[in-house]
Amino acid sequence: MRKPLVAGNWKMHGSRQQLDSLLGGLIDGLSDNATAEVLVCPAFVYLHEASARLGDSAIELGAQNVCAQAGEGAFTGEISAAMLADIKCRYVIVGHSERRAIYAESDEQVAKKFVAAQAAGLIPVLCVGETLDERESGATEAVVARQLDAVLDEAGVAAFSQSVLAYEPVWAIGTGKTASPDQAQQVHGFIRSKIAEKDVKIAGLLRILYGGSVKPGNAAEIFAMADVDGGLIGGASLKVDDFLAIVRAAG
Ligand code: 13P
Repeated sequence: MRKPLVAGNWKMHGSRQQLDSLLGGLIDGLSDNATAEVLVCPAFVYLHEASARLGDSAIELGAQNVCAQAGEGAFTGEISAAMLADIKCRYVIVGHSERRAIYAESDEQVAKKFVAAQAAGLIPVLCVGETLDERESGATEAVVARQLDAVLDEAGVAAFSQSVLAYEPVWAIGTGKTASPDQAQQVHGFIRSKIAEKDVKIAGLLRILYGGSVKPGNAAEIFAMADVDGGLIGGASLKVDDFLAIVRAAG
């Protein structure tokens, strides 16, 4: 069985004070017998403090981005995967659509980040998804396949056993427009079948999260779909009660 994962991507939000109250609220609000795994991804500068605040709680810590270069070196402004592992991050988001669109990250760079993350023992959360134009021109599967193939070519299918995927249709991110449960299932099923072409077992165990305007009111129906294994939550993860409700909706 695939254990559901609910991840909060806090993006460029918050302050030390907000971080403290958000994490405190989540630690207090999560029951010990929650069936979903919970992950929070604050901005880089807060990761170390978050790591200490989480202590031995079951909440996992992740970063929102990582340098594609392995090791260390003259890469001003970058943060290596080894540094993230050093402060007890377990996950890192790679290929978020905001990185692809605003910072022009190519499929190849995303694939290198995926590999660099794994080389340091981190679990990459690989985001894929189409824009509205791509969906309307019928290119959704071709876009998602291209994004996946770049990583499959660089890392090989075996690497997917130590990763999480997230389908985030760009048109649904921060817009209040959610993919319908059927639309989500269709692409999640496509992603799983694409991995299954290379390795059925890995495909069966792979967790595929949905992201894009997930809220307490729509989480349960999306998470109920066969190939949806949790969510990658933006805006709603900044409100303790909403995020906790979404975690509960995942099981
Ligand atoms: P929203 O939940 O705010 O739409 O953001 C989704 C997202 O981009 C998570 O990575």
